[in-house]
Amino acid sequence: MNIELTNPTLFRTEAFVNGEWIGADNGARLPVTNPATGALITDVAKTGAAETRRAIAAAETAMLSWRQQPAKQRAQVMRRWFDLIMANQEDLARIMTLEQGKTLAESRGEVAYGASYIEWFAEQAKRIDGDVIPAPSGDKRIICIKQPVGVCAAITPWNFPNAMITRKAAPALAAGCTIVIKPASETPLSALALAELAHQAGIPPGVLNVLAGSSSDIGAELTSNPTVRKLSFTGSTPIGKMLEAQCVPTLKKTSMELGGNAPFIVFDDADIDSAVQGALISKYRNSGQTCVCSNRLLVQAGIAEEFTAKLVAATESLKLGNGLDENVDLGPLVNAKAVNDVHELVQGSISAGAKLVLGGAPSNLGGCFYQPTILTGVRPEMPVFRNEIFGPVAPIISFETEAEAIELANDTEFGLASYFYTRDIGRVWRVAEALEYGIVGINEGIISNEMAPFGGVKESGSGREGSKYGIDDYLEIKYMLMGGLNQ
Ligand code: SIN
Repeated sequence: MNIELTNPTLFRTEAFVNGEWIGADNGARLPVTNPATGALITDVAKTGAAETRRAIAAAETAMLSWRQQPAKQRAQVMRRWFDLIMANQEDLARIMTLEQGKTLAESRGEVAYGASYIEWFAEQAKRIDGDVIPAPSGDKRIICIKQPVGVCAAITPWNFPNAMITRKAAPALAAGCTIVIKPASETPLSALALAELAHQAGIPPGVLNVLAGSSSDIGAELTSNPTVRKLSFTGSTPIGKMLEAQCVPTLKKTSMELGGNAPFIVFDDADIDSAVQGALISKYRNSGQTCVCSNRLLVQAGIAEEFTAKLVAATESLKLGNGLDENVDLGPLVNAKAVNDVHELVQGSISAGAKLVLGGAPSNLGGCFYQPTILTGVRPEMPVFRNEIFGPVAPIISFETEAEAIELANDTEFGLASYFYTRDIGRVWRVAEALEYGIVGINEGIISNEMAPFGGVKESGSGREGSKYGIDDYLEIKYMLMGGLNQ
């Protein structure tokens, strides 16, 4: 397929190991399709355990010199990577829309969002400070230095084919670690394009490696190989638990950014128009396929009718279609299974008594398109309340009191993002502190940026990405006791 790039060097279809583009040992290929049309875009090398072992060995060797480079030098190379990504933003966005389906506007946004992590952590590389700590006796001093954790592995999802890679690779590289990345099989092209730009930026061979292919084979090698000292994973909670268990025998550090079930609470003192706008963006971003998408809209009874009417009107104006069309607001879901899964949740909830007020079925555009959908009268026992929907479905649950809203919001095993709208400052603090979530958006529907710590509690995982905290997971603290100072 001719995908018309300004910079054709970005269209890479082999694995990137030790600075070289390699095919799979057994010649296997992985098809990559466009979810908007079902058309085959290309195929990429489908690698497995043996190629992964070689990538890990290359990363181990490369780390010997990468970690010794002054932080300022690592920062400069990373800055060049950032500049190249931004210079190629349009091509990277096009590749992303083709393989993932999100609209071009969202893909451009993701490329900039992804690059922002590289810019941020390039700056943070120079701030990996240690401490000198008073010791229990005067002839001693305690010194703490921070050192790179070792070879890192990243397993990344299809919903953010660029930013979930940079959010892991950038702190790793800034800390002096090297990394082996396994992108989602649905979206390897964005990952390989990032590797090409890393190479052009001068990131040395072996420092950053990308292998697409068999998730179980590559995953098993990354989690069992003792050379890998840290795994960062973004994806579902069940897979996260499995990977975490696989890391136990070699006691790797892990960061797990897992599923969510975000409540979006609208209190009756809220600015309703602003809440509708917030709900629209947090619900329908990437067609509802983000871990931080609002999953349950909890609306206070007195304003539920007005809020619902306004949300329905705003949702009706969204245009569904191929993300390459600049007029489109919502792209397809990632594949046919996703459409079936979403439809099952909707149907199951309607059977349990929810009222359908908009959408409710696969779109007549066919393929992977699902209609933006709104349900009212949703209760905690319904499937849309309990499960992460990962589709353009907004379930509305009405509540009476603040205490009831908090109870409903926390009634889930997940704890990633949450949102609420109110103009009462006392309520802002009460509710923000009571919500059992790693992230709270207050009168805001979009909470992600490179300067803030992203991550969850409970079964939404562990660790924080981005912000000044995001590099900690890639560092070990070494304590040195210096004695004999009075001799
Ligand atoms: C995710 O859905 O996993 C990431 C969303 C974000 O970074 O905003």
